[in-house]
Amino acid sequence: MDAYRAIGPLLRLLPPETAHGLSLWALGHGLAPTMTAGDAAADPFLASRVWGLEFPHPIGLAAGFDKDARALGALFGLGFAFVEAGTVTPLPQPGNPRPRMFRLAADEAVINRFGFNSEGLDAFAARLGAFRDTSPGKGIVGANLGRNRHSADAAADYAGGVSRCAALADYLVINVSSPNTPGLRDLQSGEHLQELLPRVAAARDAACSGGGAKTPLLLKLAPDLALQEREAIAGVVMESASGGSGIDGLIIGNTTLSRPQTLQSRHRHEAGGLSGRPLFDLSTEVLRDFHRLTEGRFPLIGVGGVSSGRDAYLKIRAGASLVQLYTAFAYHGPALIGRIRGDLSDLLRADGYSCVTEAVGVDAR
Ligand SMILES: Cc1cc2nc3c(=O)[nH]c(=O)nc-3n(C[C@H](O)[C@H](O)[C@H](O)COP(=O)(O)O)c2cc1C
Repeated sequence: MDAYRAIGPLLRLLPPETAHGLSLWALGHGLAPTMTAGDAAADPFLASRVWGLEFPHPIGLAAGFDKDARALGALFGLGFAFVEAGTVTPLPQPGNPRPRMFRLAADEAVINRFGFNSEGLDAFAARLGAFRDTSPGKGIVGANLGRNRHSADAAADYAGGVSRCAALADYLVINVSSPNTPGLRDLQSGEHLQELLPRVAAARDAACSGGGAKTPLLLKLAPDLALQEREAIAGVVMESASGGSGIDGLIIGNTTLSRPQTLQSRHRHEAGGLSGRPLFDLSTEVLRDFHRLTEGRFPLIGVGGVSSGRDAYLKIRAGASLVQLYTAFAYHGPALIGRIRGDLSDLLRADGYSCVTEAVGVDAR
């Protein structure tokens, strides 16, 4: 872990996308630190069973860090309980022109407008398959699925990703919330979801028809949803799930197009999605609302601005069964994961809980 302390400040001298590429390359080539035995020791207090999967603790890596599933083994070695690979698009595409990622260091935030740069499903599925074959049981992998920018049939893109990845990933994510693909967020409307969800659920059901458990299907939403939109989405999701063949959970949420007044960094007016600390309050409020609107019936993954055990605790209290992060990991490096786990455990114990699941949603009731 200490290697990052030396390298981290050097990485920050590089343009952010270059630094990210270098980190991923090092992780993919076995140059990453791994947890010490103390860090790796499982704390049963933090373990939970969600969608039939055993999570050793609730902290995972959010989508977008390992878009092409290049470094899964190394990321589990850093201590994440689960890693969400992607977003992957069916066909390879380059994404938006550079620069497309900006550090807002004073705000501990990032703005990105990558626009789904992806090597495409073939390469992605091959790596997921290889990971599954060589590292069974090493960690829980999510496959975050997107659509190609110029696709005429978004639902077909998502259904294709589901069919391809259902047997390779532990859960699947329909990402309709990235702000950098024109028209993508329109798919979040109740009307569009009514058409999209049955198609992706049917693809999942067909891919899992050989018996055994169905791969859980999650929907990743934006934090920029008005109350009426949240209500409409919750209604469609509840309806789709009532027949036992639909969405199994929600991820809340993606980056925000809003720009809080508090931002100080010179890049604050760049176009794209804002992540990191300034996203915490907004995404936690939307999370709490979805927990209420879905009556606690769906496991939710809380993501947005988590950088401490206390933040993770507040996400859980707001309704998250699991928590993800990206931006704080980019700023603080791998040691952050063990710190969050330890502090979260202390906070839960101090408040008298006997396991993490007891605290899920207590602030949303
Ligand atoms: C550089 C960057 C790229 C991202 N790419 C994706 C992506 O491809 N798919 C996705 O669903 N979310 C993507 N995200 C959003 C994150 O998964 C997460 O939802 C968001 O950043 C909020 O979490 P954070 O504040 O901990 O970063 C990206 C975020 C960043 C910073």
